[in-house]
Amino acid sequence: MPRRKHLSDLREAAPVILPSLLACDFGNLEREVERLQEAGVEALHLDVMDGRFVPNLTYGMPIVAGLRRLTEMPLDVHLMIEEPQRYLAQFVDAGADLLTVHVEAVDDPCEVIDQIHQLGIGAGIALNPATPVATIEPVLDSCDLVLVMSVKAGFGGQTFQPVALEKLQFLRDRVPPTTLLEVDGGVNRETIGACARAGAHLMVAGSAIFGQPSYSSAVTHLIQAARQGGAT
Ligand code: DX5
Ligand code: ZN
Repeated sequence: MPRRKHLSDLREAAPVILPSLLACDFGNLEREVERLQEAGVEALHLDVMDGRFVPNLTYGMPIVAGLRRLTEMPLDVHLMIEEPQRYLAQFVDAGADLLTVHVEAVDDPCEVIDQIHQLGIGAGIALNPATPVATIEPVLDSCDLVLVMSVKAGFGGQTFQPVALEKLQFLRDRVPPTTLLEVDGGVNRETIGACARAGAHLMVAGSAIFGQPSYSSAVTHLIQAARQGGAT
């Protein structure tokens, strides 16, 4: 499983900024990936939405496969879809390195995490701001990543909800030392420091990068703010 190695590399590299491609220019994905690589980005966060689990609709396997052809960077795929089990193998075939499912979208999270592992890649569990952390307790010793949503899943550009910080603080002391903690939604220069301080290793950022003229300067400022926040 060579790609799993990338994930442990990310743990060592924390804080890591993962651009959420939701707000990128899909008319020129190759250029967008180049600009992100030039900015020093180390992994990409891909938001898959089905119009059912969340009211928004984005993209599926073909875009993941297209990105796989464009870059060696780890692809962190955030599935905001009902019945994700139906599509796991297809996303792995498309080139995902890590698949994260929402606890609110599955009946048996342990089974889904096992299925993802059997497909040979990393497995994550996500929870919305209103969902108690107790719901993911059964998978905390088996998943590779916990995705703490700091906005309700569905749309970019929302305001950061501080309840995510309490969850990160709890998880930091609860999960095995190799588990990645990721935060997603409303992450910007003002909020990222608190996320780092609360224990997040991976920070997803959409509008804080794609709304900016220079991706390099946006990513650099985010990393600086995360390091400063993490140090205080
Ligand atoms: C929201 C997505 C996020 C989102 C982040 O459902 O999971 O990845 O695109 O966008 P910003 O950073 O704009 O909140
Ligand atoms: Zn996301």
